[in-house]
Amino acid sequence: MGNDPRDFHGFVNPPVVHASTVLFPDAATMALRNQKYTYGTRGTPTTDALCAAIDELEGSAGTILVPSGLAAVTVPLLAFLSAGDHALIVDSVYHPTRRFADTMLKRLGVEITYYDPHVGAGIAALMKPNTKVVFTEAPGSNTFEMQDIPAIAEAAHAGGAVVMMDNTWATPLYFRPLDHGVDVSIHAATKYPAGHSDVLLGTVSANTACWEPLHETFLTLGCCAAPDDVYQVLRGLRTMGVRLDRHQKSALSLARWLEGQPGVSQVLHPALESHPGHAIWKRDFSGASGIFSIVLDGGGTKKAHAFLDALNIFGLGYSWGGYECLAVRVWLGDRTVAKGDYEGPVLRLQIGLEDVEDIQADLTRALAAAAKVED
Ligand SMILES: Cc1ncc(COP(=O)(O)O)c(C=O)c1O
Repeated sequence: MGNDPRDFHGFVNPPVVHASTVLFPDAATMALRNQKYTYGTRGTPTTDALCAAIDELEGSAGTILVPSGLAAVTVPLLAFLSAGDHALIVDSVYHPTRRFADTMLKRLGVEITYYDPHVGAGIAALMKPNTKVVFTEAPGSNTFEMQDIPAIAEAAHAGGAVVMMDNTWATPLYFRPLDHGVDVSIHAATKYPAGHSDVLLGTVSANTACWEPLHETFLTLGCCAAPDDVYQVLRGLRTMGVRLDRHQKSALSLARWLEGQPGVSQVLHPALESHPGHAIWKRDFSGASGIFSIVLDGGGTKKAHAFLDALNIFGLGYSWGGYECLAVRVWLGDRTVAKGDYEGPVLRLQIGLEDVEDIQADLTRALAAAAKVED
């Protein structure tokens, strides 16, 4: 996917092209820019290979590659919003998306409203004549609320807005946003596509109507991704399916097991029948990835820290989608609508590729440590 070995003397993988300058054969060609590649910021055979692969996965008209998942959020928002516009953003959004909206977008004169992830077709009531973007993310960051994407997209389109989705959790293997009415699909390729916690990259894929404005903004901003990182993500795609399959199986079996453990009041994983968004997940998604949260049955910081400090296999760190288990205490202080009513601390678990019995033993140890804490 993404490259033809015959283009490169039969080598299975494409070369990594490091480039700023591209030479033209003569002045006329240069004046007209009449050749496929003209400058490093505008694309190379390496970026083309990854873009073609992502377009095939997403079913998109075009894809841009940017230096981080966060840039994959900010660049399309800049492409489709101007002073005087209004944007609707889901309240369970990745926190840095909210920070960008509350600082830069507000400074540029864009009005923001955060909406309930469960709003569904009810989003129609929040649309204003100047609503230009409806931003979705499903499941929600850290608390994993599902969104009725087709219903939201229909109402947003009726009001003339562009629908964006941060689809990092599912990847296009388990959910194809453009098939469900989304116009612009956003991905932190840092997570599952890269898969090894050593690369930052973002992809943004658009349908035909949105491709030109997205591509123009990308070229204008000059925020192109570095060739080695692009290559690493292309490489990661080759194994993403098998890695995701393993993440999915391990995470779901641990989520089911955790539901029955003393000390755990809730497991926030959309593939569990107990999850409030399970029916939507089952209707629209073809799989689940490896990150979910648990809620402890009471207590506060001391209990949360006892749990985290007792873990051996899990590292304490941000990000996810890599080969290794990671845990973090979730902070929900930025929420205005989707605050949830959680009995105790919320802990996010990224389930890696380690043996599931070993991960379970680690979690057992952590729950026992948390149970000893009174607060
Ligand atoms: C849902 C989501 N979107 C985007 C990002 C940003 O990705 P990056 O870390 O590559 O900037 C993250 C990172 O955690 C994320 O969880």
